[in-house]
Amino acid sequence: MSKYKKGERISVVTAYDYPSAVAVDQSGIDVILVGDSAAMVVHGHDTTLPITLDEMLTHCKAVARGASRPLLVGDLPFGSYEQSPTQAVESATRMLKEGSMDAVKLEGGSPARVNAAKTLVDAGIAVMGHVGLTPQSISVLGGFRPQGRNLVEAESVIDKALALQNAGCFSIVLECVPKSVAAAVTKALSIPTIGIGAGNQTSGQVLVYHDLLGFTRHPHHAKVTPKFSKQYANVGSVIAIALEEFKNEVHSGEFPGAQHSPYRLGTEDSLRLAERLREKELGDAAQAVVRVMEEERE
Ligand code: KIV
Repeated sequence: MSKYKKGERISVVTAYDYPSAVAVDQSGIDVILVGDSAAMVVHGHDTTLPITLDEMLTHCKAVARGASRPLLVGDLPFGSYEQSPTQAVESATRMLKEGSMDAVKLEGGSPARVNAAKTLVDAGIAVMGHVGLTPQSISVLGGFRPQGRNLVEAESVIDKALALQNAGCFSIVLECVPKSVAAAVTKALSIPTIGIGAGNQTSGQVLVYHDLLGFTRHPHHAKVTPKFSKQYANVGSVIAIALEEFKNEVHSGEFPGAQHSPYRLGTEDSLRLAERLREKELGDAAQAVVRVMEEERE
């Protein structure tokens, strides 16, 4: 909020585990979203729908262990908050108490969602809203489709964002809406908007960790990487090269060399061990001990 008031842009990245949280924390990025995108980029599902609250809590806990500086926002997964405001408070409370999150995010701006957001804020839980493409609603949206591309839809996106702000949300994610619609929402609100596929007029930007880093080279992932996501690195190829090199060195016997074999049995103990092994009629084992001892002396 202080960056927003100073007119400074806000950076947000998703993270799902300890190493990604440490990396994002050290980069100086403002906010970590433990997104339900974990369902797709970590668990390999086609949509965000299957991930459970318990699975999300495991991700939240790991992220909280790795990141102490950024604001931590936990995504309420599909099925964990829609039934009633009470259900929303129960799930969000777990996100804060067990998951160590600072705030939660929920998707949608229907009256029921706005009511849930208001109830959460009244319960003392900071809420980030999310309008435009809300992937948890693909069943009614008919797929991962951009939103707000005609007058009726554009007005609906703006109205929903305003309603969520009035409910007490501290920030709103705008996903896959035209730049003009995102610009209008940003001007209409007095809380930060965080865009993803929404142009450059929002108060901040969020990208999915794996998309941004070019993490996965799995064919399924290539299919679902969104076209608005800029790839800042090609970590997937670095990983693939390293794994192939490891495999080749193991198969050829090159790894581990002397440098990575740090533990030694002294000469005297090696000779005694060989003697004991011979006594037990384990001649091959005794020879192996002596051979390694001689190699290490070279
Ligand atoms: O789950 C997620 O990663 C998200 C972002 C795409 C905003 O909701």
